[in-house]
Amino acid sequence: MSKKETVKHTLVVALLVCIVCSVVVASTSVALKSSQQRNKVLDRNKNILAAAGIFDESKHSKADVPALFEQFTVKLADLETGRFISEAEAAEQGIDLQLYDQRKAAKDPALSVALSKSEDIAGIGRRERFARVYLVTSNDERIDRIVLPIRGYGLWGTLYGFLALEGDMNTVAGIGFHEHKETPGLGAEVDNPDWKAIWEGKEIYAADGDVALEVLKGAANPNSANAVHQIDGLSGATLTTRGVDNLIQYWMGDAAFGPLLDKLRS
Ligand SMILES: Cc1cc2nc3c(=O)[nH]c(=O)nc-3n(C[C@H](O)[C@H](O)[C@H](O)COP(=O)(O)O)c2cc1C
Repeated sequence: MSKKETVKHTLVVALLVCIVCSVVVASTSVALKSSQQRNKVLDRNKNILAAAGIFDESKHSKADVPALFEQFTVKLADLETGRFISEAEAAEQGIDLQLYDQRKAAKDPALSVALSKSEDIAGIGRRERFARVYLVTSNDERIDRIVLPIRGYGLWGTLYGFLALEGDMNTVAGIGFHEHKETPGLGAEVDNPDWKAIWEGKEIYAADGDVALEVLKGAANPNSANAVHQIDGLSGATLTTRGVDNLIQYWMGDAAFGPLLDKLRS
């Protein structure tokens, strides 16, 4: 063993290598964090635009997202009162409108309510009090389109998506599920453009104001009097289909976006 190959020397070299590596890993992680955050927001905004029928994969690229997204006004809706809250009111609740993380809020007892078994038809466990919604308005401040975050349990996990409605707060402009655990070729067909196209023009509410839209098991009959409220189920994926039907019932109903949409309609 040479003079340099002592146990102490080996340990010092190993320690130095560890320190250098951890500094490199930590600084890379810090440097990447802001770009990861930016990409996350870009992705979310792209999904919102896609649900609203504004982002077209064949025409647009991710680089177009920031400019396209500028047409949206972002609001925070209080699901208890069915009205939008101002930035100042949000601040009173300790919420920064720009940084509000709805998924985190749904787990926070101060910002969400636990749902009983009979209330929890979408299988979400807790429902946040405030929801971030996205509006496209015309010059006279009339709402032309609204995009709402929706979620609910499918077969293997929670499906997260956005539902866009026309300015009548009733006609579906588009839908998309950007995150789910359903099986490719079965439940994951919720992402199939052909299936999503069926939703466009369908109506959520019956004349009496009840949620009438249903995702059927099997194909809808286009000649049925209820055809405007009916969506074909996904074949071989009855459980995912039921999950989507349940989450529409929940989020469009009185316990979630129903009161807000009522107010906006009137
Ligand atoms: C490996 C595997 C993956 C499956 N994935 C899904 C799925 O993502 N969504 C779904 O609804 N059903 C899925 N199914 C099928 C369901 O178990 C069930 O058979 C199906 O929803 C049809 O229900 P039905 O027989 O009552 O019509 C899967 C089955 C298998 C074996």
